[in-house]
Amino acid sequence: MCAVSSIDQFLSNNKNWVREVLKTEQHYFENLAKGQQPIALLLGCSDSRVSPSKVLGAGLGELFIHRNIANVVAHSDLNFLSVFQYAIHVLKIRNVIIYGHYGCGGIQAALGKQSNGLIDNWLANVQDVIKCNANELSQIKTEEEKVNRLVELNVMAQMENLRQTSVFRQALEEGIEINLHGWVFDMSTGQVLNLKKENIDVFNLPAE
Ligand code: CO
Repeated sequence: MCAVSSIDQFLSNNKNWVREVLKTEQHYFENLAKGQQPIALLLGCSDSRVSPSKVLGAGLGELFIHRNIANVVAHSDLNFLSVFQYAIHVLKIRNVIIYGHYGCGGIQAALGKQSNGLIDNWLANVQDVIKCNANELSQIKTEEEKVNRLVELNVMAQMENLRQTSVFRQALEEGIEINLHGWVFDMSTGQVLNLKKENIDVFNLPAE
């Protein structure tokens, strides 16, 4: 399954890629270096299988991406908050995608009882989502279904967390309209689900 067996192969892959790109577009990199105008900010999971640009067919410069374990918006996380603020105020991005994925190891760990060390502190953000939906989750029979439902609930909860950030609130006050999107990647089919569009029943969210 893994086509790359050594780190050096990445570097030789890169040389081949540059050659291929220049064959079709001579000035591609010169143009790329001029600046970026991405159309969306995407918050995804760090999982190596979810590569959003590849899955969504986004070229370089089209998606502003931040990734962490279980695509969490934590109000104490200056790293993501800075990315968000930069995206809205400097890059003038008006679309934000929370991009979860089924079979998420972080979500699975949050549901499990065993201790995983430092990461448990980060996953405490997901524990809040579990607590809020304990009733529904307790009625799901299989572990896999439970994980996948929590993946969906977590995406919607993180959208809500995003709405509560100072960056989002300030943008609202300034009359800036930010469109939030909750998407889930299903790596078993390759498809990305739009939670809202698929009408998946989630939290009673306030109207956007
Ligand atoms: Co994950």
